[in-house]
Amino acid sequence: MVLAGALLTFSTHAQTIRSPNGRLALTFALSPTGEPTYQLRYGPKTVLLPSRLGILLKDAPGFERGFRVERLDSSQHDDTWTPVWGEVKSIRNHYRELAVTLSQAAGPTRQLVVRFRVFDDGLGFRYEFPEQANLTYFVVADERTEFNLPADHTAFWIRGDYDTNEYIYSTTRLSAVGPATYRPTPEISTQTPIPGSAVQTPLMLRSADGLYINIHEAALVNYPAMQLLVDGPRHGLTSTLAPSAAGPDSKAFLQAPAHTPWRTVVVADNAPAILASKLILNLNEPCQLPDVSWIKPQKFVGVWWEMHVNKGSWSYSDATNLKLADTDWSKLKPSGRHAANTANVKRYIDFAAKNGLQSVLVEGWNVGWEDWFGNWKEDVFDFVTPYPDFGVDELQAYAAARNVRLIMHHETSGSATNYERRMPAAYDFMQAHGYAAVKTGYVGRIIPRGEHHDGQWLVNHFVRVAEQTAARHLMVDMHESVRPTGLHRTYPNWLANEAARGNEFNAWSQGNPPEHETILPFTRLMGGPMDYTPGIFQIQLDAYAPQNKGKQVHTTLAKQLALYVTMYSPLQMAADLPETYERFSDAFQFIRDVPVDWDDTRVLAAEPGDYVTIARQAKGRDAWFVGSITDENARQQPVKLDFLTPGRRYQATLYADGPDADWQKNPMSYRISRQVVTSRSVLNLRLAPGGGAAVSLELVSQK
Ligand code: NOJ
Ligand code: CA
Repeated sequence: MVLAGALLTFSTHAQTIRSPNGRLALTFALSPTGEPTYQLRYGPKTVLLPSRLGILLKDAPGFERGFRVERLDSSQHDDTWTPVWGEVKSIRNHYRELAVTLSQAAGPTRQLVVRFRVFDDGLGFRYEFPEQANLTYFVVADERTEFNLPADHTAFWIRGDYDTNEYIYSTTRLSAVGPATYRPTPEISTQTPIPGSAVQTPLMLRSADGLYINIHEAALVNYPAMQLLVDGPRHGLTSTLAPSAAGPDSKAFLQAPAHTPWRTVVVADNAPAILASKLILNLNEPCQLPDVSWIKPQKFVGVWWEMHVNKGSWSYSDATNLKLADTDWSKLKPSGRHAANTANVKRYIDFAAKNGLQSVLVEGWNVGWEDWFGNWKEDVFDFVTPYPDFGVDELQAYAAARNVRLIMHHETSGSATNYERRMPAAYDFMQAHGYAAVKTGYVGRIIPRGEHHDGQWLVNHFVRVAEQTAARHLMVDMHESVRPTGLHRTYPNWLANEAARGNEFNAWSQGNPPEHETILPFTRLMGGPMDYTPGIFQIQLDAYAPQNKGKQVHTTLAKQLALYVTMYSPLQMAADLPETYERFSDAFQFIRDVPVDWDDTRVLAAEPGDYVTIARQAKGRDAWFVGSITDENARQQPVKLDFLTPGRRYQATLYADGPDADWQKNPMSYRISRQVVTSRSVLNLRLAPGGGAAVSLELVSQK
């Protein structure tokens, strides 16, 4: 529906559209010099002050000023769609749209469209470059989209970096973002920090007058990831993009017609509403896959944590300076510590089969780990040659007989060119050996040399991996990828990413502070599911190897269970070792029971940096699961069970912190209790410092 299509020279005319419920108002205007600007209000409150829009071009004048409005098109949209898997059964996509066609008259006339969509839960907008005579091939030198905040909000942020998101979050005023508040993280192997004051998205903000604002992007394809430069005194943010190997002024290579990803500003007057927002998914394209019946949310164990805690190794031998093509791997002297050996993998398969877990990840199965890291070497792995002690056929038969699938591991060591070359053969190999899913990884500096994890080349690589795995009915979980932007709507075989600081940092670094998991849902998880690898029960890690003395996961055991509910993912690892789960079989029952696909989700209480409590309804049945976590502070968390079906009785099983539990002093103290409840019951969860609680609610009988 076109409300206003006009030709005018509205030079500074402001145009406002409102969200369907009227609360959010977006105003577009041109400045006196023809700069496109926008501002955003939530009821009487200012979300964004007038903020400039602009794209800088290499070898051509930028799309910054000298514009006039050629045409304004407004429309609205309202439909409901069904995700292949997710937190809720169906999603409403309801917005009002304003497309502003701008033309720049100085020099050869060029057009730019800025398309705004205003939802009840926020704003999305993108730049579009229509097909036109005076713009065909062009290079984006940078983007200058401003997000000018009206006050010095509290920000939950990690520093800007083109290669990693594995930082610890800081919580400061926006004006304090900068080198003085960057948290030292020498343990991150590959860092390319942005000079000056910069943060990554998703950026979470809280205003003193009670607004919650989240800035990120949606549908990142064929463009670099966006980072934000921070102008502290002005509390202004300005977008900047990861460069390419062609140079710091060559960030995106585009050909019209083209468009940028959506810039997203989720807004609410309460924190839970931020977590409930589906705006980013709504701005992504619908599912592209003709058949999705083979896509299965799943839980898995893996030959994995035992390497991170120094019980075993990825590599087969202690040899060094090997070349992939010239090495006879069968002649290497085994070190005796190689974890991915047939007998050990069988043990994991048995454990998965016995406990109803669908799959087993095996890392270190393929040759190349002897010098996989740190050499910026192109030809590290071939992804098809197992080590001599990994019986690929034997394990295929063993797993199939027990109805368990193996998850393949493809660590690229950052050598994306090598992976691209070998992907077809690697995926053939997976199919020939019954694998349905692959975990990829991009540790280290990228090849093509000079490219970054966040650049346009890698962004397109990650999409190619999603497409090529989908074409062969393979699911994928990417580690060290660019942070997600809702593309799992389009490619639902792309089950999860890491792209943040995962639980593994607790094994070998200063770790993650207890508040970490209360911030992630408001930041990293806004773009999509994370393979966080929860479920660590043996919290003190010297139990696994003496050199882990002093290392521990910064959690209680019960909190690890709660993470299966608070950290949504269709792919959840039970990350600890089978022998540990055997020791705590009663607590492990929650991991056996908790689903990975849901019909409904209720965010019951949440505050970034402090606590998160979420209830979710299992897919296709009347059973609910609650997860509640806290930061380093103990809390009481009442949970009203009014989401249960009235008149029905449910068996509640509570997995709670023991009365003396404390993440530092007594992390493994837990208590399991049962009671019958109804929709009128209230549970009073007591969360220990650094703790949490998990609850399953299963129907007992119908009145
Ligand atoms: C980093 C990944 O996040 C981790 O899960 C994996 O074990 C190592 N890379 C080795 O590939
Ligand atoms: Ca806190």
